[in-house]
Amino acid sequence: MRRPLIAGNWKMNGTRASVRTLLDGLLSGISSIKNADVAVCVPYVFIPEAAQLLAGTAIAWGAQDVAKEESGAYTGEVSAGMLKEFGCRYALIGHSERRSYYGDSDAVVAQKFVAAQKHGVTPVLCVGELLAEREQGQTEAVVERQLAAAVKIAGIAAIAQSVIAYEPVWAIGTGKTATPAQAQQVHAFIRNWLAAHDPATAQSVRVLYGGSMNAANAAELLSQPDVDGGLIGGASLKVDDFLNICRAAG
Ligand code: 13P
Repeated sequence: MRRPLIAGNWKMNGTRASVRTLLDGLLSGISSIKNADVAVCVPYVFIPEAAQLLAGTAIAWGAQDVAKEESGAYTGEVSAGMLKEFGCRYALIGHSERRSYYGDSDAVVAQKFVAAQKHGVTPVLCVGELLAEREQGQTEAVVERQLAAAVKIAGIAAIAQSVIAYEPVWAIGTGKTATPAQAQQVHAFIRNWLAAHDPATAQSVRVLYGGSMNAANAAELLSQPDVDGGLIGGASLKVDDFLNICRAAG
């Protein structure tokens, strides 16, 4: 019922040449993936290239952030309207790297969520705890706080038009993946928390796992009942690895 989504987060990687090679490689393998949606979230400057190469294909493209403002004197920012004009289907919102290095607070993340949706760009709301928070038994409280901030500003109905990504910060780029059971536990928590507000939204929204997901561990993570896909960092930069993760999903 929930169609899996595998999304690559390229982060700040790539050159004009490598982007073309990577996308060409993905396009040549995408026809074998029938039962999953596939997307790549690329650095802003590569969005026009992605739009050109991916238009009319089964691979969607998106951005890794978005401004909370509409337009104006916000040097360095890129608006949701601009992303829409270049065909972005998704924008990552509240990735842990944005939260920790650039100070994106829960409130700012919620405003970005609203800004994306206003222009028809689907926000991929990233949530997840730090290692210290997990060790202190705070995982659910942290995830709840991050979700609640978005629900407070956007409303529960808006969550149905979004994607949630659970990314335990200690698993990002570390090679240390959450076990399938650890992932499932938090994913179920997220779905139950949403269900308390609106059962239909909770059933329909896709909750992706992110954090050192790779071709070797994807199948087991994706087989968990509340894991509806993956948000892939490092492994999304390698054609074969990313395609194999997509195959594991469908
Ligand atoms: P890695 O897959 O490199 O751990 O990154 C995960 C991530 O941050 C995706 O947004």
